[in-house]
Amino acid sequence: MRVRIVKDEEAAARVVAARVTTALAAKPATVLGLPTGRTPVRLYALLRQAFAAGRVDFAKAVTFNLDEFAGLPAGHPATYRAFMEAHLFDHVNLAPRRIHFLDGMAKDPVAECVRYEKAIARAGGIDLQILGIGANAHIGFNEPGAGLVADSHLARLEPGTRRSNADLFDGNVKAVPREALSMGVGTILRSRSIVLLATGVGKANAIGATVLGPVTTRVPASLLQLHGDVEVVLDEAAASKLAMAV
Ligand code: GLP
Repeated sequence: MRVRIVKDEEAAARVVAARVTTALAAKPATVLGLPTGRTPVRLYALLRQAFAAGRVDFAKAVTFNLDEFAGLPAGHPATYRAFMEAHLFDHVNLAPRRIHFLDGMAKDPVAECVRYEKAIARAGGIDLQILGIGANAHIGFNEPGAGLVADSHLARLEPGTRRSNADLFDGNVKAVPREALSMGVGTILRSRSIVLLATGVGKANAIGATVLGPVTTRVPASLLQLHGDVEVVLDEAAASKLAMAV
């Protein structure tokens, strides 16, 4: 893993935005894997700005979002799709048919996950997967446990993960679905390049275990150590449990 530590959240978002714009300049049809959450908000703002300034073109880009809540109807304001529309998709020239999501309303989640894996494969695989990380080191909705599911699947959310998503539901943790559809760790590891973005002291323990700890399903992001092209972009707060942090 390459670890890059920058001063603050703004600088970290800039590093990752530059990765995205550089990838699209080199290959306009880049297949992007995209996260939601508070962490990438600034990244998406920078990408909107870059688009408005004519510095990036999404016309041929393809996107696959990491995960989606189960059971929320299309158009529900707390869906990750709504988040992506508000923060990026409604503001750039991404063709709707090139935007991909797991369907949280699918009657048959297993079939839906098979469809998603096939769609990723048909698109040629994910070129650049951007990730956030949970305070418990989950990636997508791959929660710590005795085992992990490799491919896209229906995942049960940890209470802490539901709490940290409560903001999307006006702070009402009870309204946060108990399940979500998520890419698996195998789906993520099949991406050609991966960038993990983490900011703030609340992620410091998870980052310490991810970067320095053993590879274990108890720390899902630690499996990223098995991939040959992972950049971990951190602000100083998120890096504060790394011995290498200065
Ligand atoms: C959520 C998402 C993850 C995200 C993580 C961190 O539950 N499923 O994809 O990376 O938690 O969220 P945040 O950036 O808000 O801390």
